[in-house]
Amino acid sequence: MAASIFAAVPLSPPVAVFKLTADFREDSDSRKVNLGVGAYRTDEGQPWVLPVVKKVEQMIANNNSLNHEYLPILGLPEFRANASRIALGDDSPAIKENRVGSVQSLGGTGALRIGAEFLRRWYNGNNNTATPVYVSAPSWENHNSVFMDAGFKDIRTYHYWDAAKRGLDLQGLLGDMENAPEFSIFILHACAHNPTGTDPTPEQWKQIAAVMKRRSLFPFFDSAYQGFASGSLEKDAWAVRYFVSEGFELFCAQSFSKNFGLYNERVGNLTVVGKDADNVQRVLSQMEKIVRTTWSNPPSQGARIVATTLSSPQLFDEWKGNVKTMADRVLLMRSELRSRLEALGTPGTWNHITEQIGMFSFTGLNPKQVEYMVKEKHIYLMASGRINMCGLTTKNLDYVAKSIHEAVTKIQ
Ligand SMILES: Cc1ncc(COP(=O)(O)O)c(C=O)c1O
Repeated sequence: MAASIFAAVPLSPPVAVFKLTADFREDSDSRKVNLGVGAYRTDEGQPWVLPVVKKVEQMIANNNSLNHEYLPILGLPEFRANASRIALGDDSPAIKENRVGSVQSLGGTGALRIGAEFLRRWYNGNNNTATPVYVSAPSWENHNSVFMDAGFKDIRTYHYWDAAKRGLDLQGLLGDMENAPEFSIFILHACAHNPTGTDPTPEQWKQIAAVMKRRSLFPFFDSAYQGFASGSLEKDAWAVRYFVSEGFELFCAQSFSKNFGLYNERVGNLTVVGKDADNVQRVLSQMEKIVRTTWSNPPSQGARIVATTLSSPQLFDEWKGNVKTMADRVLLMRSELRSRLEALGTPGTWNHITEQIGMFSFTGLNPKQVEYMVKEKHIYLMASGRINMCGLTTKNLDYVAKSIHEAVTKIQ
């Protein structure tokens, strides 16, 4: 037999966060805790199907007028319109002026990918691979790869996290924007920055927008946690809406994985805000071509659930209540963890745990301390020290706090 034609294919390392979950599953220790996975968990440590989602699923199952015909290439119109509406707000001038378009996508990742492909093909000259794309340091690791796979060759980082003060490095960030070539693309986390849980304040966003406008930089928002950060859809969309009010043309990749708990349904939306309706129509026509060769047309179940929920005032209110339940549990776990670490006298300051928002917290644990947590304590977290606050429960808080205390005091 001849050697395999795949003989030279190198084995790629597994994706860290999925590997962590697999290791967690195999661990037979009864004390084990998974603080790695990027998904909501109840106080019983279980995944949560939102009650409003359950209800809408029943409605869909009982609706005999629905079928499994293909959706339009750009997706379900009611889903796209409602998704953009919650990103931009009911009173958005851009929506009223008919200069907003959207593309239903496979999760937030799909929205980023379609947006990136479009920008590579049509932004700042065509087949543009040289425009710098700036990703925050650190960021969700997929940002880099998605833009690289879309063909961008010059992916850079901008200052974001100040490890010493455990907060935002605003001066570093603004400096990088001042020095970036005009028309560079900046990926901005709309809220609940992953992995640091640290967002600019409205005043800081204003400074960021002023520099970006003056330097002609393109804002590509990634909104994966709307509602999850503060419990309020409005507050969590503040930055995107402010940029729109300042006249920016922008993209906003929305994910409904977290705020609807629809992780495996792959529900996302790419909102495009342009100068006028004509520009948006031409952009969408090109995006339609990209979708056609990528997934041809999107799946319907998740989009139907979201569209049905967002278009009914009662269901919309119920959903907001469900989102608040999740956000409040995260906030509670933050204050409980902080107070335990402070009560134990764990060296260092722990106010960042409650100052950070969203699903994640950057603990400040170093890689050796993380290794200690995983190997000795069976507590699984990312090597960066990022923990998912939803992995904490009233039952494991004491154990996790004591383990962090031990890691910090024993391992330097
Ligand atoms: C910052 C950020 N962007 C995008 C995504 C992608 O979400 P989705 O699962 O909807 O593709 C995630 C998911 O973890 C995320 O954290």
